[in-house]
Amino acid sequence: MPRVVILETERAASAAVAGFVARLLAATPDLVLALPTGRTPIALYGALVECHRSGAADFSQATVFALDEFVGLPPSDPRSFRAFLRRHLLDHVNVARGRIHGLNGTAKDWKKEAAAYELKIGRAGGLDLAIVGIGRNGHVGFNEPARRLPARTHRARLLPETRRANAGAFAGRWRDVPAHALSMGIGTILNARGVILLAFGGHKAAIVQRALTGPITTLVPASLLQLHPNVVVVLDRAAARSLTRARKILPRD
Ligand code: PGA
Repeated sequence: MPRVVILETERAASAAVAGFVARLLAATPDLVLALPTGRTPIALYGALVECHRSGAADFSQATVFALDEFVGLPPSDPRSFRAFLRRHLLDHVNVARGRIHGLNGTAKDWKKEAAAYELKIGRAGGLDLAIVGIGRNGHVGFNEPARRLPARTHRARLLPETRRANAGAFAGRWRDVPAHALSMGIGTILNARGVILLAFGGHKAAIVQRALTGPITTLVPASLLQLHPNVVVVLDRAAARSLTRARKILPRD
């Protein structure tokens, strides 16, 4: 069972993770990060921006890789994940332009794009820390539940529930959400030296419990994180409420 840290609120949990990342950056300025999009990391990014403004987080030597991207949206599209990361984090901290990497959702040859991404991650020295969320169906990045999962960066077909969960940026019309995405593979994520899984809210409680305490299965891609020796799961109280038998670490403030 991975280590689980539970804080009372999403805000407190996000601030704790931001503090951890800031300390990591101080110790390892050339940190290589994989970063997610979605609702979950927004408070974390806000807290990281605050850390940066107060002088506590210096990203000048850091490298960032986006975890995934919609197919069909150019990086300039405000609904793209690249734009999301810029809006919430990268426009407000000092990551060097040349060290910000994302998948190009409009690449003509996705296999080439995916292979080039893996190569770039390798050239950067591999991922030091992958920060990931979890979908209600157990996906990590856009590694959707399936009998077989591609290990490496690939083009993924999005399940209807995932398209519905992403409909917000598409005026609520889930059919307008791209049907495919490019995503780091579960193997790419498991190769990171450290992984932080974030989940907030009661709607994530059931899948958090399955992912952390259920069998390891590709039908719950996040359950594969149980195999990683250095995963920390950071939850608010609501997302942790089904973890009755879990060993919980409750930091005091
Ligand atoms: P969310 O998505 O942060 O919007 O809940 C998480 C995910 O689908 O990975």
